[in-house]
Amino acid sequence: MASSNGEEKKQSEAGRHQEVGHKSLLQSDALYQYILETSVYPREPEPMKELREITAKHPWNIMTTSADEGQFLNMLLKLINAKNTMEIGVYTGYSLLATALALPDDGKILAMDINRENYELGRPTLEKAGVAHKVDFREGPALPFLDELVKDEKNHGSFDFIFVDADKDNYLNYHERLLQLVKVGGVIGYDNTLWNGSVVAPDDAPLRKYVMYYREFVLKLNKALAVDPRIEICMLPVGDGITLCRRIK
Ligand SMILES: C[S@@+](CC[C@H](N)C(=O)[O-])C[C@H]1O[C@@H](n2cnc3c(N)ncnc32)[C@H](O)[C@@H]1O
Repeated sequence: MASSNGEEKKQSEAGRHQEVGHKSLLQSDALYQYILETSVYPREPEPMKELREITAKHPWNIMTTSADEGQFLNMLLKLINAKNTMEIGVYTGYSLLATALALPDDGKILAMDINRENYELGRPTLEKAGVAHKVDFREGPALPFLDELVKDEKNHGSFDFIFVDADKDNYLNYHERLLQLVKVGGVIGYDNTLWNGSVVAPDDAPLRKYVMYYREFVLKLNKALAVDPRIEICMLPVGDGITLCRRIK
């Protein structure tokens, strides 16, 4: 049954909650809070909780992967038995830690970010969790690194999973390279594909500047992925939207 206007008003008056990394696209904050409190936080490994709390105090905390998305990535990696992975866009490393905890002891994550300082902030939690040895961090823009990797045929089809959570204006450039690097049957996850819900906003909507700027690139990416015959896709409303692409050829 549709809720009455009074109920809707009460819900919106409850306000957007304050969880760090809150990017839920659910209409009800109470429902999102329910998910976090019922099935995410009680199961969150201690080092991830610690990193979430460290990140909450950082001025750019809006960039972090949310706890429910971290839990999702961790589960997904285990389901596909991922061992060799890549991450583009580390920030303080919440998704990196979720990944590292999911991989076997000899698993690897090639992690790239233009900013080392934020990675260093989270690095002690990787160490405490006993998974730092799985991480190979490279500081710098991802595209030249990918070009280097692609040059060496040994890297072709060598990654089980790749998570992309960085500069949206480069996702399509990444895509062409990543399709050579991920194995057939492997998965690329593109984050933020619903981009604050702005993908359905009218052109004259009062969006924040950076949301407006990257929106065009996200729209273009989504269109391109939808018709790309080399992959199967699944777009999930988790976090800020994540599109999983399974390479099929
Ligand atoms: C949304 S944050 C990543 C969040 C991270 N996955 C987490 O779990 O907290 C985006 C990151 O992409 C990085 N970045 C931006 N442009 C980049 C580029 N060209 N190459 C590599 N990293 C880049 C930024 O420095 C930033 O740390």
